[in-house]
Amino acid sequence: MAPKQDTLIVVLDIGSAYTRVLAADVNDGVPRYRGHGVVESAGMRKGMIAELGPAARTVRAANEQAERAARVNIDHCVVGVGGPHIRGLNTNGGLDLGSRMREITRDDVRTAVEYARAVERPPDREVLHLLPRQFVLDGHPGIFDPVGMVGARLEVDLHIATCSGSALQSTVTCANRAGLEVTEAVLESIASAECTVSADERELGVCLLDIGAHSSDLAVFCEGAVAYTASVPIGGAHFTNDLAIGLHIPVAQADELKRRYGNCVVTAVPQLAEIEIAHPQPQRLQLRAIAEILEPRARELLYFVREGLREGRVENALGAGCVLTGGGAMLPGLLDVTESQLRVPARTGVPVRLSQMPGELAAPGFAAAVGMVLYAHRTRKTRAEEDHSLRAKLRAVFAASF
Ligand SMILES: Nc1ncnc2c1ncn2[C@@H]1O[C@H](COP(=O)(O)OP(=O)(O)OP(=O)(O)O)[C@@H](O)[C@H]1O
Ligand SMILES: [Mg+2]
Repeated sequence: MAPKQDTLIVVLDIGSAYTRVLAADVNDGVPRYRGHGVVESAGMRKGMIAELGPAARTVRAANEQAERAARVNIDHCVVGVGGPHIRGLNTNGGLDLGSRMREITRDDVRTAVEYARAVERPPDREVLHLLPRQFVLDGHPGIFDPVGMVGARLEVDLHIATCSGSALQSTVTCANRAGLEVTEAVLESIASAECTVSADERELGVCLLDIGAHSSDLAVFCEGAVAYTASVPIGGAHFTNDLAIGLHIPVAQADELKRRYGNCVVTAVPQLAEIEIAHPQPQRLQLRAIAEILEPRARELLYFVREGLREGRVENALGAGCVLTGGGAMLPGLLDVTESQLRVPARTGVPVRLSQMPGELAAPGFAAAVGMVLYAHRTRKTRAEEDHSLRAKLRAVFAASF
């Protein structure tokens, strides 16, 4: 296998149902698919890593698949973070730039953000992202990038996405035990939006809802910036478990029934439609019986989403509606329930195709992984540009002093 490459971007998504590794390399400034691995997760409980050993083994297995497909040794990765421990908060802060107006530098912006982030946080909270919503310069709001502008006071409205410190550490430990060094952590709902939501939709206001197996993660964008992040502890596995309990069948059979015949709008299922099932004993089962179990769970999920949006004061800010990603988004009828509960248009988010990406990855369950590749690529590019402009500035300073 070829040694590792600097142009390689590898992402690791340890989900509660599946562990996914996706490798891409950057060619002519564009990420191109190299390979991926997917295995059923192990050692997970309620959307968190509960046992490091089995979880690390699934990471290793998924990574080996990706290494074989990409024909490269992988020793580093960007990890995705999601699940019920995600919380976001909005804060603000700012600084006086002196008695006279002056030009704002990138350091001023950093200082304003540092002031805004200096809020009391519960002890086990780790900051994942500091996301400026807008800058306010001398009382004028709505500024996206104030560097180079002139003023006397700079303030920032900031969204801080946080996660449980111990959950993040478990993810990193799993990756390390599987031989992977972690270079960056990305909130998966924001990553999912990266490959499914357009800039126009972010501007108009949109809710990204990633429905996984054990939780559903939200990220709301308003006026182009992240305004709210949260997680609801209900996902596709809850729908499956309801079927298993309601129909007295094993969980695996319930998941299969849900995927093949599930619908969460009872009236959308023909009244007389039936199927034969072999367990617990051979019998005919009305498809409406499945929908009658799934519909209340879908309503409950969207009820909690609506309550979260209300709490975050963004429920009336979704001009572009709601985009559903994650494997759970494939359940027929969920878009209708979303539209009726949130009273906004809803669509399924299918990740944009990376160059040479196989069709099977163009599915909502892969949105977080594909989005993490694009996110990592974009942040690397921004950092490189900042480094470059810093170097250019230093060169200019030295040029001026000679
Ligand atoms: N065709 C389908 N119809 C309905 N549900 C589906 C379908 N395919 C997958 N699912 C459900 O999607 C869920 C898995 O989604 P996903 O792969 O996004 O989860 P995950 O990322 O592993 O979990 P999490 O994000 O909660 O950690 C499972 O509950 C599965 O039953
Ligand atoms: Mg997931």
